[in-house]
Amino acid sequence: MILTVTLGSGVAVAGKSDYLMPDAVPAPKDNQTTVERVQLGKALFFDPRLSSSNWISCATCHNPALGWSDGLATALGHEMHKLARATPTILNTGFNKFQFWDGRARTLEEQAVGPIQAAGEMNQDMGELIGELNIIDGYKVLFEAAYPGEGISEETIGKALAAFQRTVVTTESTFDLWAKGDEGAISPSAKRGFELFEGKGRCVICHSGFNFTDDGFHNLGLKEDVPDMGRYNIRKVAVLRGAFKTPTLRDVTLTAPYMHNGMYNTLEEVVDHYDRGGDVKEHLSPNMEPLGLTQQERADLVAFMESLDSIEPLSTTIPHLPQ
Ligand code: HEC
Ligand code: HEC
Repeated sequence: MILTVTLGSGVAVAGKSDYLMPDAVPAPKDNQTTVERVQLGKALFFDPRLSSSNWISCATCHNPALGWSDGLATALGHEMHKLARATPTILNTGFNKFQFWDGRARTLEEQAVGPIQAAGEMNQDMGELIGELNIIDGYKVLFEAAYPGEGISEETIGKALAAFQRTVVTTESTFDLWAKGDEGAISPSAKRGFELFEGKGRCVICHSGFNFTDDGFHNLGLKEDVPDMGRYNIRKVAVLRGAFKTPTLRDVTLTAPYMHNGMYNTLEEVVDHYDRGGDVKEHLSPNMEPLGLTQQERADLVAFMESLDSIEPLSTTIPHLPQ
């Protein structure tokens, strides 16, 4: 195993045990997180040769310097094609039960090979990519070390990218320290914000548990010029119209703009949205209602969310690309 970062796990004080991180990120039996797999996956993640233009890597959009996202409202892909949705962070994505805003992939292994082939993203032909990787000696060595005897295939590319992404995690936050009993770790405002988060603000209904998500899909009544049906495109259940996956709130200050369409630039704007109880009432989640928050309470909620930031965000070095 390779994870040596302090995730923020430990023993919580009463009432806060739901919120502490587990010790490690789970991995499937046939793709345990080994040093060799992570090394290979990291090289692939940062390698623009994965795209047909040889200009776009996964890290172009999931940039470690921008909270493993891109700082844009919606992503820019192949030939600057503007995508319809915002790039989510890949921090803690190893804990997700669903991948993508609409949950259309279940596992990271399955997810990883999607963007490589998507016309609007990396626009790559998988057969060609496998051919190209096979003539790079450095990759042959890395694949053999990571997946002995399995060769370079769509499957091993997906597995390696997944293994690397399981190491991209948030680290201990001041909130975690407080949840473990250090009373002075967060401000009085952040403490009041936590109370609102669980109480009057009703945030915890959806942002529950250590990763602050229920792995569920909800329609928050966002105003959109072209309505995106979200989860409904995948499962034709009426309540899923315009519903999107609840994102994590850890390291959330690093990943603005917010929401699946990047429509809000600040956490204050997000809190105002909830305070209004959403804007579009059609198909709105029954858990969205006007909150009647005071100015101070809104600031407190933001202070609480800021306390979820990693004290020392995961640092990463850009790898030398295999030759
Ligand atoms: C052009 C920009 C772009 C590139 C390149 C890109 N992504 Fe993404 N990524 C996105 C966008 C946008 C989404 C959300 C799409 C959606 O939900 O419909 C996404 C979603 C994801 C998710 C789901 C995260 C979650 O919590 O739901 C993962 C994981 C991910 N990408 C990994 C990768 C990997 C691995 C690569 C390289 C093989 C990659 N991405 C390349 C823009 C990009
Ligand atoms: C009904 C479930 C639900 C409730 C209640 C809820 N959220 Fe959310 N939250 C979501 C979903 C789903 C999204 C993504 C929605 C989208 O993009 O369409 C989201 C997005 C966010 C985001 C943006 C994160 C990002 O990375 O884009 C923040 C911040 C946030 N919520 C904070 C809060 C706060 C604070 C509260 C309480 C005042 C709250 N949420 C209540 C489900 C909920």
